[in-house]
Amino acid sequence: MKTFILGQSKEQVLQMIPEKGIKLVQLGGEKICVTRNGEALFAFEPFCPHRMASLLQGTIVRNEIVCPLHQYRFDLQTGAVLSGQCPDLKVYKVGLTDRGLEIWI
Ligand code: FES
Repeated sequence: MKTFILGQSKEQVLQMIPEKGIKLVQLGGEKICVTRNGEALFAFEPFCPHRMASLLQGTIVRNEIVCPLHQYRFDLQTGAVLSGQCPDLKVYKVGLTDRGLEIWI
């Protein structure tokens, strides 16, 4: 597991990631999505585990993401599928600090 830091301060991260917006970032060899609900930040794989739809067009509702294709819902903290039947979404541990957003991959 590797730790990456996005941005250089908490304020910069909050500016970089719009509220309920989804941003694709490349960290090492991985592309991952980052979003936030207030100051709660989440990182997750960019493709839906059901039929691989891009989650960049997903909708953030509270701490969940809704896939644009068949509207399956996933918990952004645990990755658990909340509606529909498919494997869980891969999520990554994050921590918002004064040095930026730490992401463990
Ligand atoms: S591809 Fe995401 S719910 Fe079907």
